[in-house]
Amino acid sequence: MTATSAMSSSRVSDTAGLNDLFTHLLQYAIFAPSEHNSQPWLFRICDGSLELIADRTRGLPVVDPHDRAMTISCGAALDHLILAARNIGQEVSVDLCPDPSNDDLLARVRLDGYAVPSSAEEAMFAAIPERRTTRARFLPKALPKDVSDQCMEIAESYGIELTLIKDSARRGDIARLITRADRMQLSSLRFRRELASWVHARRDTSRDGMSRQGLSMAEVMSPRGSLVVRTFDAGDGVAAATKEEICEGSPTLAVVSTPTDVVMDWLTTGRALSRLLLTLTAAGATASFLNPPLEIRELRPRLRNVLHCRGVPQLLMRFGYGPKVEPTMRRELSEFLIP
Ligand SMILES: Cc1cc2nc3c(=O)[nH]c(=O)nc-3n(C[C@H](O)[C@H](O)[C@H](O)COP(=O)(O)O)c2cc1C
Repeated sequence: MTATSAMSSSRVSDTAGLNDLFTHLLQYAIFAPSEHNSQPWLFRICDGSLELIADRTRGLPVVDPHDRAMTISCGAALDHLILAARNIGQEVSVDLCPDPSNDDLLARVRLDGYAVPSSAEEAMFAAIPERRTTRARFLPKALPKDVSDQCMEIAESYGIELTLIKDSARRGDIARLITRADRMQLSSLRFRRELASWVHARRDTSRDGMSRQGLSMAEVMSPRGSLVVRTFDAGDGVAAATKEEICEGSPTLAVVSTPTDVVMDWLTTGRALSRLLLTLTAAGATASFLNPPLEIRELRPRLRNVLHCRGVPQLLMRFGYGPKVEPTMRRELSEFLIP
């Protein structure tokens, strides 16, 4: 669909035209990242608007008991959709959490006139199908200043704090927390079972989770197997498990923090996350997540202390340059659309 055809169909504003347009935009929304590739979003087209709904049946009660990561993922899907709309010249207006009596309804989106995407937005949009979570050792190469600056500008425009950590002593402190969190999670049978249920081979047919890693359920249930999925491959299929391995393979650590810790902060984090990851992709860089210290209640304040940040940490990531990796599966669009 081109900008011109989209604009003329929105002028007609008939229901069929709007449905087609929203369906076109959703093809991009569902490329968004989500924890364990759980794809926890649903969409409903109704009364000329599109609703984004949290699919709580896809929750992760062990690592994400309050649906924080789920909401972040939905925020990322929302931003992918906005970029797709602007790319075809459609402005959107977004109402976040529009119905106080319905916690699942995270956003209502309406098409709202013409938009001219910026060149940065065009680059981010083009990066949507190319973006990957890269669980591999990164090259010992710093992000160029202009890319770091763009990331900082994105954070600022969303009112969140982005801390980029390049010096090895601070990376070491954080890596120590990561290994501690890993040990705590891996010692939990409940944690390993939840993770394994999203990674086993039959996920090939459900087109969610992370089965392409080629690990059997039994392998993931082993502490070492779980780690491969949660941190990154330090080489020869061996997971980064020590402070040194994590530091060596992660030249830049990145932490996103928000002023408070409520649903709006999580949605904003997701929207900014989408832009950060797509900006990296457009610049030939990549990222992956090292979230375990954020998933253990008592370790979250410790990360804040190590960072000396004012806000509440929401995401811990690695930014850098890594090998090209295969895309993760997505379910069919029809599975996300509810009547
Ligand atoms: C909020 C959130 C938390 C995540 N946490 C982790 C993590 O701790 N470890 C990890 O390896 N991947 C993590 N991921 C990445 C997902 O597993 C990844 O997005 C998913 O498998 C889809 O793959 P893709 O990003 O390559 O499309 C997280 C993603 C999101 C959005």
